[in-house]
Amino acid sequence: MKRIGILTAGGDTPALNATIHGAVTRANQLRVEIVGLIKGFNCLFNPRVPHVFLNPLFQNIPELDPTKGGTLIGSSRDYVDPERKNDLDLIMGRLSQLGIEGLICVGGDGTLNGLQPLAERLPTVLAPKTIDNDLGLNYPSEPDEMVRVNDPAARGGFRYKTAESRAVFNLDQIVNYVTPGYATAVYVSASGVERIRTTAESHRRIAIVEVMGRHSGYIALGSAYGRPDVILVPEHALDLELLVERVKQIYDLQKNVVIVCGEGIVDEQGRDLGAESRTTDPAGNIQLTGAAEALRARLIQMIGDRYFQLYRRGESAREAIFTRKVGHTQRGGRPILFDRFYAAQQGACAVELLIEGRNNAVSVLQYNQAKGFFVEGYDANRFRDRWGLIHARRMHPCMYDPHLMKPSRMGIDYLTPIFGDAIGEDDAEHMRQTLFAAGNLTQPYHSINTDVNKRIRFLAGPP
Ligand code: F6P
Repeated sequence: MKRIGILTAGGDTPALNATIHGAVTRANQLRVEIVGLIKGFNCLFNPRVPHVFLNPLFQNIPELDPTKGGTLIGSSRDYVDPERKNDLDLIMGRLSQLGIEGLICVGGDGTLNGLQPLAERLPTVLAPKTIDNDLGLNYPSEPDEMVRVNDPAARGGFRYKTAESRAVFNLDQIVNYVTPGYATAVYVSASGVERIRTTAESHRRIAIVEVMGRHSGYIALGSAYGRPDVILVPEHALDLELLVERVKQIYDLQKNVVIVCGEGIVDEQGRDLGAESRTTDPAGNIQLTGAAEALRARLIQMIGDRYFQLYRRGESAREAIFTRKVGHTQRGGRPILFDRFYAAQQGACAVELLIEGRNNAVSVLQYNQAKGFFVEGYDANRFRDRWGLIHARRMHPCMYDPHLMKPSRMGIDYLTPIFGDAIGEDDAEHMRQTLFAAGNLTQPYHSINTDVNKRIRFLAGPP
């Protein structure tokens, strides 16, 4: 294999450049050219296929910096529809014209689904990424437990859910223990929670901090490092009575409460709190907005003004209870060491998988107590359920204690290997040296897009 294409698809993460860097570095050693395809699958629909040579003469281009967040080749949420054979033929023709013999897609579960039709025609592999940490399996047989129910409102007329699991599993069995981007997202979320705390303390307030993750509660679980009082995850339906009781107990004691809620939390009937309208993005994901606001409205109603007035801690529930979203800061900025290190290894492994002829494989990050973390290839087919679909992994319910509303023992054991040594000395040093650099006040931000743009090439020359 002489020339490989690489693209980054779906929502970005801080570790994408690290993955690309790992892939390109390995490709240099193997004397393989890597072509970066601009803006994910989107570029394949463009007859001119905008692209960048990432390692001319087997040297990395200088713009490829593994410590920079985002992706130098851009990303989009476009996907290839397997039913549109015509599109697929055109795409294959374009890739062949470009001399691409293998493709690395850096993405999550949506990308893994999306690349399936391509893998039938061209050697294609996945290097995982997602802050949601939802690409993987809690244990290898998990896809077999999927059940599908008729739902005319759902895409394709079916809704898929995991059946009540009878599996006993331990952490060593997790497939793709953690995805690049997750550690940095947790770092940002936990720091946000820590910062909200002191202001809630000073003003006797109840803060609800919403974190991302879609229907997977991993980011919410990891935010436990910021020591919130209560964590709510999508995998356990909200128990409002219990929550109100717990909030009052804590408030009575310490005059402030910090609640973290995952954006995908559901009510007792299993309805998304944060998705009043079922808007979806191009990949068909429900867009979740407003779980924290919906929760605030319920707490205001159930706790009432009188409770706050009684203790002279506020005029009204509306004033005392406030929400903040950590938002896209979770997805941006410099990746912390854990993400950089393993993302690069997974990128390198993706190149090896292609060279070894392992079509439709995923470079997963595994963990076991004896070996620690290690990267290996895993057949994508093993992620599919019996209908051929790949689903987002949900945090296993046993990682969370619904009574304490905190990580369970298993959840703590899950988090510890990731975060024990996640921040590098250089991460702290970077902040010390760069945040308040005097030049920041005088020099405008120089976007990587400006430089990469000068390197973009097209299949059919200029328009
Ligand atoms: O999948 C990553 C993610 O950040 C989710 O956690 C979140 O729900 C979604 O993407 C937000 O997407 P967008 O950036 O398109 O609003």
